[in-house]
Amino acid sequence: MSGVNEKKVAALEAVKYVKSGMKVGLGTGSTAFYMIQAIGEMVKNGLNIKAVATSVETEKLAKSLGIEIITLAEAKRLDITIDGADEVNEEFQLIKGGGGALLREKIVAHNTDLNIIIADSSKRVSRLGKFKLPIETIPFATQLIISELEAMNLEPIQRLKGDQVYRTDENNDIIDVNIWNCDEPLSDLEQCLKAIPGIVETGLFLTTTNVVIVAEGEKAVSRKR
Ligand code: A5P
Repeated sequence: MSGVNEKKVAALEAVKYVKSGMKVGLGTGSTAFYMIQAIGEMVKNGLNIKAVATSVETEKLAKSLGIEIITLAEAKRLDITIDGADEVNEEFQLIKGGGGALLREKIVAHNTDLNIIIADSSKRVSRLGKFKLPIETIPFATQLIISELEAMNLEPIQRLKGDQVYRTDENNDIIDVNIWNCDEPLSDLEQCLKAIPGIVETGLFLTTTNVVIVAEGEKAVSRKR
């Protein structure tokens, strides 16, 4: 990689899609950080957009850069969302939620016309699952869900922050599971997980992505669905 910041390369390619008058979803994470910074610069230079943030962290950053934040209800529908991913495969499917923002990210993606995923080259995989799949759960149910996921051989581990339980922006828990050995189709796995009461969302994003921009060194390679 020779010192090239691939996250920034991908982010700078993606912001070319953002035009005045658009309602824009802002992702979360260390790759999205460069996209938000770039949009902040564009706003300073006259770009007129309204944005919906996928996390408290993103909202704070965007506001500090002068980007106007509105609620999803105010936006109703977003023209474009740019977000990172923990893994992306050739079929435009993702694992997200390493940073814990998967629930709002999936809601925002669902309500967006054009979803662009930005990533450095380490995120591109032929098969999803080396990265542990985050699952967001209601604290009331978390321990019983862990037992159920153990019975499914998914090796669940409740996410911690230091020696405390990790809590999402929605005050829920995260359980990270190992899906590497799952032979069933990912859509079946997703359905099966979502059928367990108390599981609010999973980090599998199987159908929402329209464009993937992966940086390979200084080159941003875009693929459209
Ligand atoms: C936030 O919860 C995540 O979905 C991130 O979008 C994803 O983990 C990518 O984060 P990085 O860009 O920091 O790797």
